[in-house]
Amino acid sequence: MSNPNSRDARVLRLSEELLEIEQRLIPTGLHILGRPSDNREKLDLLKMVAAFDRPEFGTRALPELIANGLGLTTSAKERTLDEKEAINSIVTEAVKLFLTDGMTVSMDYLSQAARVSVDSSRPVFVLLKNVSEALNTNQELDSLLRALRGEFIEPGPGADIVQNPQILPTGRNTHAINPYSVPSDVAFSRGELVANNLLQRYHDENGRYPEAMAIVLWGLDNIKTQGEGVAQALWLLGVRPVHDGLNRTTNVAAIPLAELGRPRIDVVMTVSGIFRDLFSPTVQLLDKAVRLVAGLDEPLEMNLVRKHVLEQVAQAACELDVAATRVFSNAPGNYGTNVNFMVMDSQWDREETLGDLFVTRKCFAYGRDSKGQAIDGHEARLAMDRALSRVEATYQNIDTFEIGLTDVDHYFEYLGGVSKAVEKRAKSRPAIYLSDSLSPDSKIRSLEETVRLESRAKTLNPKWYEGMLKHGFRGVAEIENHVSNTFGWSATADAVDDWIYSEVANTFVFDETMLDRLRNLNPHSAHSLVRRLLEANGRGYWDVEQSVLDKLREISRSLEDQLEGVA
Ligand code: BEZ
Ligand code: MG
Repeated sequence: MSNPNSRDARVLRLSEELLEIEQRLIPTGLHILGRPSDNREKLDLLKMVAAFDRPEFGTRALPELIANGLGLTTSAKERTLDEKEAINSIVTEAVKLFLTDGMTVSMDYLSQAARVSVDSSRPVFVLLKNVSEALNTNQELDSLLRALRGEFIEPGPGADIVQNPQILPTGRNTHAINPYSVPSDVAFSRGELVANNLLQRYHDENGRYPEAMAIVLWGLDNIKTQGEGVAQALWLLGVRPVHDGLNRTTNVAAIPLAELGRPRIDVVMTVSGIFRDLFSPTVQLLDKAVRLVAGLDEPLEMNLVRKHVLEQVAQAACELDVAATRVFSNAPGNYGTNVNFMVMDSQWDREETLGDLFVTRKCFAYGRDSKGQAIDGHEARLAMDRALSRVEATYQNIDTFEIGLTDVDHYFEYLGGVSKAVEKRAKSRPAIYLSDSLSPDSKIRSLEETVRLESRAKTLNPKWYEGMLKHGFRGVAEIENHVSNTFGWSATADAVDDWIYSEVANTFVFDETMLDRLRNLNPHSAHSLVRRLLEANGRGYWDVEQSVLDKLREISRSLEDQLEGVA
């Protein structure tokens, strides 16, 4: 007989995972230019906006106000499933009432249902009212036409609605941020939480900290979060930003080891071409941080940057300046890794080619050497090979609910690409992590967990694919893209379970009604999807019975016939 405690614990974990999938905010269909959000979309968005403390608007997170009102003393992480569900249903009801009957009714409801004082809920609803009104204002088409006529478009910050509600109304000219203001104070304090969670997760799984990590930094993400990714890198190294007399972040200072309470982690940073262009002072800051840490007189087991740099100098007889190179990007004027194109076009035999391509594209160093001379995109392949050879974990921050792991091919080209490059150079597959810096507790997940969550919440979720299918031809292409992007995680990181491919086949190919819909709307993408499934099996990523493959081949042939106009 199974132990009831462990059975209960398993059921609890299962229900927590289900709740996580259920509460995940997903785009249900493509955005249609000029169309404001409907009430269902608004409900989801406003719930997310209300889920965070927002000191800039003087508001507390609505779930926390409700938890306090209900007399719960536990932190969000410690709550039972029943408590979480109770809070969630009150939040949902309050926001629904707000949308139908206005803020007074909703505030009354909250004070009765959860003893939330009107004084504390009013600022939240004032914020939601502004967001809701801004969501009704849609000047996208008008702005597009004005832009085409060469007229002025009002500027607005770049972010998503949850991160920064002030991006509304949409249809404005998105502007970036001053790179000298990065990372912001808020980003730096959130960066600490994520870096600690990340290191804790690795420590829980391995009994020690990683010697070195490879992280990916993107430009748009750091615009949206005012530098959370940059802050995470600084925390891993154990340094804080320092402002000059003009309040520009131009320097860094080491956080004393006693305060840090853990070793300084060696960090290899791959920054996108967009980051390199938009955040030139930040590239300098990151390079400066590494060189500062490498020069600190500290025990080597507590300063893994210095440990590795000294080892590299001794073993390879290279100069300290070269051994301390950790910030890499494309050659000046170049962008992207091309790993996505190689995968999508099936133009590769051995997986290590994908990692080698990543390094070929990304092995250009940026920063400043000890003599103060600019390193401005020098090719540094050997330095990158050596730095990656010590990496034990790779990581990228996901900061938006709008674009996730399988929505675009860029996550696997970067995080997958660097992980595959590490695998060959370190002779071991790294642990691969992502953070969900959108969730209030900045959860860290392994790549495998994130692929499962994305597959359940999006690709295999009827709410998601039916939303896509409303867009006809383009919607089928989006479904096929998701399957191919999922395949990208097999190619670069072997991170896709067999059941995911099996469920894709069952949902989109072996359900006759669905297959008919796909082939009528877009036979090209339907065919590509079936071919991708066959490729997944052919390359050893999907272990499945011969009979399934036979059926897939037959369907593939019939789609080919249809495309050739034979059928
Ligand atoms: C970036 O913002 O840096 C970026 C965006 C899309 C793909 C790759 C990088
Ligand atoms: Mg497998």
